[in-house]
Amino acid sequence: MLPSSLWLLCLAAIRVRSQTTNQAISFTNTFSTLSSIPTSDFTGSQFTYISPTGQSTLSSSSTSISSYGEASNSTATSNATATSSSTSQTTRSSSSQSLFAIGGTVSATGTATGSRTSTAALPSNTLPCNNYPEFCNRKYSNITEVCAHNSAFSIKNNAASNQALSITDQLNDGIRMLQGETHRVNDTIYNCHTSCSLLNAGTWQASLETLVSWLDQNPYDVVTWLIVNSDYVWVENYTASVEASGIMPYLYIPEFRPQHRDQWPTLGEMILSGKRVVMFMDYNANPASVPYILDEFTHMWETPFSPTNQSFPCTQQRPPGLNQTVARDQYMYLANHNLNTAIDIGAITGSGSSSLLVPNSAEVNVTNGQYDQFGQLEAARSNCTAEWDRPPNFLLVDYYNIGDPGPGSVFEVAARANGVTYNRRCCGITSQSGSSSMKISFAALGAAIVFSALLAW
Ligand SMILES: *[C@@H]1O[C@H](CO)[C@@H](O)[C@H](O)[C@H]1NC(C)=O
Ligand SMILES: *[C@@H]1O[C@H](CO)[C@@H](O)[C@H](O)[C@H]1NC(C)=O
Ligand SMILES: *[C@@H]1O[C@H](CO)[C@@H](O)[C@H](O)[C@H]1NC(C)=O
Ligand SMILES: *[C@@H]1O[C@H](CO)[C@@H](O)[C@H](O)[C@H]1NC(C)=O
Ligand SMILES: *[C@@H]1O[C@H](CO)[C@@H](O)[C@H](O)[C@H]1NC(C)=O
Ligand SMILES: *[C@@H]1O[C@H](CO)[C@@H](O)[C@H](O)[C@H]1NC(C)=O
Ligand SMILES: *[C@@H]1O[C@H](CO)[C@@H](O)[C@H](O)[C@H]1NC(C)=O
Ligand SMILES: *[C@@H]1O[C@H](CO)[C@@H](O)[C@H](O)[C@H]1NC(C)=O
Ligand SMILES: *[C@@H]1O[C@H](CO)[C@@H](O)[C@H](O)[C@H]1NC(C)=O
Repeated sequence: MLPSSLWLLCLAAIRVRSQTTNQAISFTNTFSTLSSIPTSDFTGSQFTYISPTGQSTLSSSSTSISSYGEASNSTATSNATATSSSTSQTTRSSSSQSLFAIGGTVSATGTATGSRTSTAALPSNTLPCNNYPEFCNRKYSNITEVCAHNSAFSIKNNAASNQALSITDQLNDGIRMLQGETHRVNDTIYNCHTSCSLLNAGTWQASLETLVSWLDQNPYDVVTWLIVNSDYVWVENYTASVEASGIMPYLYIPEFRPQHRDQWPTLGEMILSGKRVVMFMDYNANPASVPYILDEFTHMWETPFSPTNQSFPCTQQRPPGLNQTVARDQYMYLANHNLNTAIDIGAITGSGSSSLLVPNSAEVNVTNGQYDQFGQLEAARSNCTAEWDRPPNFLLVDYYNIGDPGPGSVFEVAARANGVTYNRRCCGITSQSGSSSMKISFAALGAAIVFSALLAW
């Protein structure tokens, strides 16, 4: 149960217009924003919001969350407008800023009249904003996430598998990019490796449904899905699965096409709007026809694909011919850090001699390691950062649950890239630690956003 003493309620999208000093900050869309927030358990007509008064100078950043979390009744019809007396606001260019608000306690203020309508399981083992409340105010494009290579391929005793743990475990553990090879067979999109007779991890729609149910229970997370369109089929052939899976309301459609790295919203803004899934496709995306499936290679580049070489050079490989200045200035990037080994699958596919790259599982502990040693993920992070002046946005790995010195090393590396501390348990251990961690997490979320808003004003 969500602790009744604490409500993370509304927020308002605050549009900061800052051509002049003392410019008004107006709350907009209070009602529609509220109704679109994925807080399915909130059914009240009232919500609590943060009053921005007093946020005049940077020095007020010492104000604690409680003074901003003062519960106040505000009905959805309120067009609450607040002015900021900030004089540090002049150079801020037009942009929108989102605020989360923490309500006061129900007993103390009696204002939180919403009621839970569901006893659905609480978010498990996660903190808001992809486990780090400080990410709420970071752009989507300014965060390093771990990507589970071929997320759906967790078939036991199959050499072509890339993961040991399920998609749900992956998400609970902190994987925020799911990725995978797909094939179109019998008019249906399947998660298959090379051929559905070699490894068939079920329909793509089923794995989307798994994500949807996780998102429903984890309302403050943003997840990326990278589709590998192995048969180069039309993107339109993917839409039926998308529509039937229930993921449509979560899909983010960018403001720009392609959207440059500095044009992405913050995680907080995405969470607020409810558009918490970014879906990319490697080949044949067609945003004019299917705007919610983004073209991967106009948004991010990749280091060499399916490497078999432990030196993992951080060179830009796909898309071919990309202008390096553009790569640096406008693109995110993904590091393929999965070490492969070639096996002969001729006997399986019946096509004489054909080889397949599968994870080099003997070395995976080293490959995923957190030390700055040859072949380890940490070495790739530091080399890539040195070469490109920032770490990869996505660290693609096999068997994310294995590492050096042990499970969780891939998340440790990502945390270093992000300048945060990784101290979670890993992997495949679902924690239902309940209310105390929820309370901390919501408070931290509000604090992080408020704090940052203060700095911004
Ligand atoms: C706040 O809500 C309570 C309960 O609904 C109500 O009695 C009170 O009048 C409200 N206060 C304001 C200022 O609207
Ligand atoms: C909205 O703002 C206008 C003035 O800007 C005011 O007249 C009106 O009463 C406000 N509505 C509410 C519901 O606060
Ligand atoms: C995010 O921005 C910070 C500050 O500019 C930078 O140090 C970091 O490398 C960036 N991370 C990514 C993934 O872009
Ligand atoms: C596609 O249909 C054929 C014929 O019914 C069947 O043999 C095959 O197993 C199906 N493929 C998949 C991946 O379901
Ligand atoms: C996509 O689906 C349509 C039917 O909806 C089919 O006619 C077409 O051949 C498919 N395209 C590819 C490349 O699979
Ligand atoms: C691995 O890459 C390094 C540097 O990029 C290169 O010198 C070496 O020859 C490569 N090894 C193999 C086996 O390709
Ligand atoms: C990575 O950096 C280390 C030094 O930190 C260097 O010895 C190594 O050659 C680099 N690897 C690549 C592939 O650039
Ligand atoms: C790459 O793009 C930059 C900026 O758009 C441009 O100035 C430069 O000439 C381009 N370089 C090449 C080789 O096309
Ligand atoms: C990796 O695992 C192998 C056995 O699978 C073991 O021999 C080796 O010592 C491990 N290496 C590290 C760095 O943990």
